[in-house]
Parts: sequence; structure tokens; C-alpha cells
Amino acid sequence: MNWLTATFGTAIGKKLFMSLTGLIFCLFLVGHLAGNLLLLAGADTFNAYAAHLQGLGPLLRVMEAGLVFFALVHVATGLLLFYQNQRARPVRYRVNASGGGQTLGSATMPYTGVLILGFLLFHLVQFTFTAKGEGGVYALVAAAFSQPFYVGLYILAMVVVAVHVSHGFWSAFQTLGLNHGKYFGFLRAASVVLAVVLGAGFGFLPVFVGWMV
Ligand code: HEM
Repeated sequence: MNWLTATFGTAIGKKLFMSLTGLIFCLFLVGHLAGNLLLLAGADTFNAYAAHLQGLGPLLRVMEAGLVFFALVHVATGLLLFYQNQRARPVRYRVNASGGGQTLGSATMPYTGVLILGFLLFHLVQFTFTAKGEGGVYALVAAAFSQPFYVGLYILAMVVVAVHVSHGFWSAFQTLGLNHGKYFGFLRAASVVLAVVLGAGFGFLPVFVGWMV
């Protein structure tokens, strides 16, 4: 515990927490996208998959609680770092996004992070914590995406997720000290690929489901 509080007390320690929780969330998103792609196979397959997950019982509850906990630690730590940076450097650097160095992803991390947390809470209420009727979870998803408002909202949210991941993924490796010069280009490219796969994959699903119903 001493090690934990001592590590968290330093800026690099906080970044370490952010990197680990962020990478765990990236892993979850890849798994979640793979599972959600079963929406393409129709109601029976998707509901069977959801039932299989529910069958994990307490293990699923622990995993869900862990994810929400990691998301909260990630956002709270990020905001704390943002606040400390602002206090340490109240006058902004004149070098801006257009001057190189910064990207859209890096410049907007705190804002996209808060937006994703807001989306996540809404998303959990909409799909996880809502009673499922006859048609199972598929019916819930289909009902939501039959409304253009939710299709648009989800597409916007996925753009925000993609922008956040495009910087966060490689930045996490940099914090963990795994960003050796040799791998720099590869990690930057991998970040962009992951961001595009998640953004396009998740963004396509509401359009597809909305079009099917
Ligand atoms: C088109 C995009 C998405 C769809 C259709 C979708 C669908 C779903 C559904 C149906 C559930 C409830 C599963 C159940 O209760 O049986 C769920 C849960 C969840 N979703 Fe999503 N999701 C999407 C995007 C996202 C994104 C971008 C995130 C994270 C930023 C996310 C995070 C979660 C979490 C943390 C849970 C709770 C864990 C779980 O029950 O598996 N989802 N999602």
C-alpha cells in the first residue's frame, strides 16, 4: 500500500496508473467490438452471446465493476494531472498544434476523456442497467438504433473515442518506457490503426442495426 501511495504521489506515478488503466480499457474495447460484431449475425446469435456472457455470473459482475473502477481511476487521475499542469504552467506555450509536436489527439485528451466517461455512464444505463424484455439485449440495441438521434450520438461518441485512442495508445507505451526510438514509428502507426478500427467498427454498427430494423 505504501508503494501504491508513494507511486501515485508523483507525476510519473500518476501517468503510470493512467497508462495501465488505459491499456486495459483498449483491450476491453477490442473484445467488446469483436463481441458486438455478432450484431451482424442477427438477434439469435447476438442474444446467445449475451446469454453466454451473463452465464459467467459473479465473474462478469467482477469484470464490470473492475472496468468501471479503472475508467474512474483513469479519468480522475487524468483530470488531477491536467489541473496540476495548469497550475504549474498558467501561461500556455505559444507553440500550438500547428507548430508540430501536438496533435488533435494530444491537445484534447482531458476533454475527450470526460466526454467518453459521460458516454460510458449513459451507455451503461441504456444497455446494461435496463431490464431486457422478450427480445433480449438485441431488441434493446435495435430499438435504440432505429432512432436517428441515437445513431448520430453513437457515431459522434465513436469519433471522440478514436481521437482519444489515437494519442492515448502510443502515449501509454511511452510512459511505460517501451517507446524505444526503433519502435516509435510502429507505435504511432499502431495507434492510428487501432483508433480507426475502433472508430469505424463501433461507428458502423449503429448504422447497420438501424438500417436492418
Ligand atoms: C456501437 C457501439 C456499441 C454498442 C452497440 C455496444 C453495445 C453494448 C451492449 C449491448 C452492452 C450490454 C451487454 C449486456 O448487458 O448484456 C454493452 C455494455 C458495455 N459497453 Fe458497449 N457498446 C458499444 C460501444 C461501447 C464503447 C465505445 C464503450 C467504451 C467507451 C463501451 C463500453 C461498455 C461497457 C463498459 C459495458 C459494460 C460491460 C459489459 O456488460 O460488457 N461500449 N455495450
